[in-house]
Amino acid sequence: MTDRIAVCPGSFDPLTRGHEDIVRRGLAFADRVIVAVAHAPQQPRQGMFSIDERLGLIREAFAGEPRVEAAEFTGLLVDFARKRGAKIVIRGVRSVKDFEYEQQMAMMNRSLLADLETVFMAPDPAHAFVSATLVRQIARLGGHVAPFLSPAVLHHVLEKVAATKSAAAQG
Ligand code: PNS
Repeated sequence: MTDRIAVCPGSFDPLTRGHEDIVRRGLAFADRVIVAVAHAPQQPRQGMFSIDERLGLIREAFAGEPRVEAAEFTGLLVDFARKRGAKIVIRGVRSVKDFEYEQQMAMMNRSLLADLETVFMAPDPAHAFVSATLVRQIARLGGHVAPFLSPAVLHHVLEKVAATKSAAAQG
């Protein structure tokens, strides 16, 4: 029997405990999960990590889990899924607001690639309010982000904030 491959796409800037939880739980119904970091050159954003750095964080966080792979992709998710033989897309849905957008993307992706199923996963309640955008903002403002990140990711976030501050201080 062939492996059931799932792709969990996103920005992952940075990978949060919420993402990690969704990916690990995805292994209950997929043999392998590809955590796919999207290149989004059209989106002006206050990012924290480069694509390569984000891939590194994902690899560190899942170092003990050979069934999880980190990859990057440019262009359409359906093209990446087709190329990698993935038939499942995993997305975490935290709220009704998330759901409207996620449902539209799922339907659009399925109309582009008929046998691609999107599985929506409810977050663990402990992570229901966590978003990478808020984590970046809180970390930059000196807030406590340890509960939202695994130790490896936290270390890199604190390092990045310190490096950015020291570069700014030097003008
Ligand atoms: O973490 P995000 O920002 O919510 O992830 C959004 C992402 C990367 C999953 C979505 O923007 C995406 O799939 N981008 C790839 C381009 C694409 O396929 N667009 C059409 C989606 S219907």
